[in-house]
Amino acid sequence: MSIIKNLEKDLKQIIQNAGYEVEKLALEPSNRRDLGEYQLNDAMQLVKIYHQNPREIAEKIVTELEKDDRFEKINIAGPGFINFSLSEKYTYDFLNQMNQDIFTNIDKKEPKKIVIDYGGANVAKALHVGHLRSANIGEALKRLAKLLGYEVIGDAHLGDYGRPLGLVMKEIKDRYPNLPYFDENYEGDYSEVDFEITNEDLEEIYPLASNKSKEDEAYLEEARVITTKFQDGEKGYYELWKKIVDVSKAEIKKIYDKLNVSFEIWNGESDEMAYFDPLIQMYEEKGLLVESEGAKVIEVAKEDDTYTVPPLLMIKSNGSKSYDSTDLAAILERKENFNPDEIWYVVDGRQSLHFEQVFRAARLIDLIDEDVVLEHIGFGTMNGKDGKPFKTRDGGVMSLESLMELVNQETLKRINNDSVPEEEKEEISKIVGMAALKYADFLPFRNTDYIFEVEKFADLEGKTGPYLLYSTIRMKSLLNKAGETTSQEITKFKGENEKNIALTLLDLPMVLSRSLESKSLNEIAEYLYKLTSQYNSFYAENKIITEEDTALRDSWILLTNLVYQVNTMLLDVLGIKVPNKM
Ligand code: ARG
Repeated sequence: MSIIKNLEKDLKQIIQNAGYEVEKLALEPSNRRDLGEYQLNDAMQLVKIYHQNPREIAEKIVTELEKDDRFEKINIAGPGFINFSLSEKYTYDFLNQMNQDIFTNIDKKEPKKIVIDYGGANVAKALHVGHLRSANIGEALKRLAKLLGYEVIGDAHLGDYGRPLGLVMKEIKDRYPNLPYFDENYEGDYSEVDFEITNEDLEEIYPLASNKSKEDEAYLEEARVITTKFQDGEKGYYELWKKIVDVSKAEIKKIYDKLNVSFEIWNGESDEMAYFDPLIQMYEEKGLLVESEGAKVIEVAKEDDTYTVPPLLMIKSNGSKSYDSTDLAAILERKENFNPDEIWYVVDGRQSLHFEQVFRAARLIDLIDEDVVLEHIGFGTMNGKDGKPFKTRDGGVMSLESLMELVNQETLKRINNDSVPEEEKEEISKIVGMAALKYADFLPFRNTDYIFEVEKFADLEGKTGPYLLYSTIRMKSLLNKAGETTSQEITKFKGENEKNIALTLLDLPMVLSRSLESKSLNEIAEYLYKLTSQYNSFYAENKIITEEDTALRDSWILLTNLVYQVNTMLLDVLGIKVPNKM
């Protein structure tokens, strides 16, 4: 159990010794630090239950508190608010306890198995800014959930099954009509077909085909037909599809690598298709699949809906499978393969209606046990300075790679450390650039839109990734310079700064658990900034390495080590790498 939870438990006991029973007690640092580091408001709540005057209750509790040497500066403010601080000795004690193993100061959750669907890159199309947020948030939530004791399976759920693939194949067919893929009578071995396609080709072909389809109805129609053909497994198209998917997937993996994002499962929407027929049958048996303008749909609207929830599109009028149905099939697949307690979908908030439809349809037939939680974890958009979703200069969608490059260039300008060889600067700027981008993405609550301001994100000062990295590296270098301490115990402090750091360290488990509850990383991002700034104030005020009082020097170094450990642990949760220097 974390130190703070233990303390809360003991405080409950202390209140009980005073003759009162409180159900829940949560210690929150006081915002009136002049009165005490913590405030207990419980006396006020007890008034209603015990029909006693708040002051009287507070006094009884204070008498008990005073018997415990962990507390000091105990006082009653106003009608009955109890303020107190943690004693010096106790502060050293709990810091030393943390220093044994910071992971013991984390409250684990009841074990659960969770599938997280995040990433969602689309094959044959460049990744864009929207994919950045899904990857960042999904990866960090996965790491956080693992840290707190869940079993987590991350699934990339690549978009490899829809019309974009049909469009790409239509264009290839127009360019090379004689390829065996398009010959129904071809009997040979497809692996011997002399046709290579690269990711650069795909980057050129998809946007072109997509534009053509907007102007040319016949072109679009053929792309639709081709989509249905490869979905139905027609040999030639299927083989070509596989070739495209392989090339594109390799490229997608490279980008996720750069983002420090990895998946346990690299499924694509196509992997869900084996579940499609049983799925159709299940809905058909219950009479829930209805015809609508040539398509097959499931009605999911409810009588008391306050907004319109349109029917879920199961099979399109041209026979091809829909995005909606793919997500339903994926529920069946995940149930069979993992039997999870929860499935989380880290997907753009603008898809919330889609998930509402899918979840309702799933509940209509108990597609998955009703106690399995299905949750859409939406997020806001990253906007340009105009407040609209971030675009390239000419108004197009910015590819994720260009965006990353833009940030790396900005961080490169700021690496002015002479001890870093020129040739290493570029590599380092990539790590720092990712930190800049990721940290800025985590700072706002996940549903909030934010503005892409590259100079601000890359700044070495202020609430930024580079500031955190710079400070963390400086802690490490101090630790290296300091070498072994004489003692392994914190026994002495000098100023207020050290206590501030200690109290912030005490908060860590609460921050982690609240962050997991809200499924937003903003609290962790803020916490990192707070702890780092507090440390930096302390660092600026003291000459740690040359301090002559050994007990004080040791204590300071051990405290530095604690902050360093917490920082690296939290940066790792956020999927942010720390370079050796910058
Ligand atoms: N490929 C989709 C897109 O780019 C995102 C997929 C999200 N995940 C899901 N299970 N629907 O918009």
